Amino acid sequence: MSPITAEIQALKDAHRKTWASGDYARIAELVTEVGERLVERDLHAGLARALAAGGEQLGGEVRGNDLSASAGGGDRGVAGTRGHVQYVRARLHAGEWLTADAEDLPFEDERFDYVLSSLGVQFVPRHEVVSSELVRVCRTGGTIVLGNWAADGYIGRFWTIMGPYLPPPPDYASPPAAWGRSEHVVQLFADYPVDLTSERYALDFEADSAEVFIDTLADYYGPLLQARNKLTPTGRWEALRDELIALSNEMNAAGDGHFRAPSEYLVTLARKPT
Ligand SMILES: C[S@@+](CC[C@H](N)C(=O)[O-])C[C@H]1O[C@@H](n2cnc3c(N)ncnc32)[C@H](O)[C@@H]1O
Repeated sequence: MSPITAEIQALKDAHRKTWASGDYARIAELVTEVGERLVERDLHAGLARALAAGGEQLGGEVRGNDLSASAGGGDRGVAGTRGHVQYVRARLHAGEWLTADAEDLPFEDERFDYVLSSLGVQFVPRHEVVSSELVRVCRTGGTIVLGNWAADGYIGRFWTIMGPYLPPPPDYASPPAAWGRSEHVVQLFADYPVDLTSERYALDFEADSAEVFIDTLADYYGPLLQARNKLTPTGRWEALRDELIALSNEMNAAGDGHFRAPSEYLVTLARKPT
């Protein structure tokens, strides 16, 4: 495990506060489809196989995790993450929420048959560390299933636009959009014995207009809310808002004056062969 220094811990604390700001549950409602797809894509099929092979004895544990209690963990949870855990709960034992750092998962090696992340690992700063943690806690014969915004899709580009407006990341951190490029993902898992496949899907974001959509995100989506708070006093918020609205208009597929932007995401399956 790569050590979490005081500097790295300070960055995580800042991330935790950022994601806890706003109201992520409002945002999660917009992206629930990603978590559901990850479950449907592999876990569902895996459980069906296990049941077909004499599964009355099928039991297990489910753990949900998010750095921030208000964004993902704790009693409240969020729709996006809760959606797929509820699905699993109906079949396995009750889940339990943790608020651990994905770079330092509090689980022993090879603990889980399935390791899922819906739009989560993408926002963890040290990509090599989190990928090694995912592989470590996944059992031989198990599967890691990840959903990440594609770098060239709407939200991938959204994050690339945000980059220069945010404080410069430390040199050990990699940008979130990188997880949305399959070459980067291949590189991250290159040293591990996993079989990788990637697929692309898209979900639609909708609103009355691009302006309404960006202003809604700025009210509820922690990273954009924090950016607005920091940039407003220096007069830079309007420039970022304009860039995001221009991107949104460019991606708008509605054609009737409303806003509907498909946002592509990459689903990666990494199987650890037996
Ligand atoms: C876009 S949200 C996705 C939340 C949820 N999984 C979903 O599908 O809606 C990104 C999440 O990553 C979490 N996160 C960021 N850094 C993390 C870390 N180092 N360890 C665990 N979670 C982290 C944030 O707290 C935030 O809730």
